[in-house]
Amino acid sequence: MMKPKVFISQKIFDEAVAMVKQHFEVDYHQSEASLPPVVFKERLQGKAGAIILLTDRIDEPLISQCLGLKIVSNVAVGYNNIDVEACTRHKVMVTNTPGVLDDTTADLTWALLLATARRVVEADQYLRSLQWRGWKLMEFLGFDIHHKVLGICGLGRIGLRVARRAKGFDMRIVYTDAVRANSSVEKDLGAQFLNKEILLSESDFITLHVPLLPETTHYISSADFSHMKPTAILINASRGPVVDEKALIRALQEGKIAGAGLDVYEREPEVEPELLRMKNVVLVPHIASASRETRLKMALMAAENLVAGLTGKRPPNLVNEEVLL
Ligand code: GLV
Repeated sequence: MMKPKVFISQKIFDEAVAMVKQHFEVDYHQSEASLPPVVFKERLQGKAGAIILLTDRIDEPLISQCLGLKIVSNVAVGYNNIDVEACTRHKVMVTNTPGVLDDTTADLTWALLLATARRVVEADQYLRSLQWRGWKLMEFLGFDIHHKVLGICGLGRIGLRVARRAKGFDMRIVYTDAVRANSSVEKDLGAQFLNKEILLSESDFITLHVPLLPETTHYISSADFSHMKPTAILINASRGPVVDEKALIRALQEGKIAGAGLDVYEREPEVEPELLRMKNVVLVPHIASASRETRLKMALMAAENLVAGLTGKRPPNLVNEEVLL
């Protein structure tokens, strides 16, 4: 019997490719550059499934032209790059990689928080550029983290792990979410549920862990910054469009908040030039899940989802259950 054909849209770990090759005929774009949409569409033709990265877009016009496509396996937990409703209409399964990256993403969130509050990057640049002349009492004064208030927007899998880490810093933990956590979780963390406006006004550090959805696009916009403390630091390791980046820049310029630590941007890989010039901002290139162990797990999980979906099993991380009905 002929093996189904699948497409792997960018370079992933060899172990994951090998797993896929055991079952399918693989068209592998073994490059770290994402394909232009027209070429991507061509390569997807005649394939039963695809492993894609978050830089690939799957939209309605594309899906409607890929007859025979049964599954799109995203190597990411966030799947805002995929029009899931369109996939569901065309009976295409969508899978993601939840769970395996929660701790790694929480670690990076904390790296950004610590680096921004304690001016680690700025100080490193100062030292490397040979400007350090000796210890000064009032040099590189940052903000304390311990005993401060951490505001978590989105207490899901990742937000929860960010909260757990905060306990070690003796922080007061407050959170907001579309659904309130159950009381045992709140008790365990010592976390208090607040509405968004109050959370923004009480928090010293605000960290975002919501998925990108129409209703969370610009979740933090210009009006929100006016509720924040002038000493507040905003951390975003979710998705860029969750924050209105122009409004963030204005808030930083006007001193409405004290700093920001960003892993994600509205128009990746573009970064607003104003941000690049700001010393009170720490910027990393969408690396929250980037430990070797975790990225390998994500790729293997994506391969498992693909294999399951095309061998008559239910993919373990199916996003749109409705396709199986
Ligand atoms: C990374 O951003 C992911 O969604 O996994």
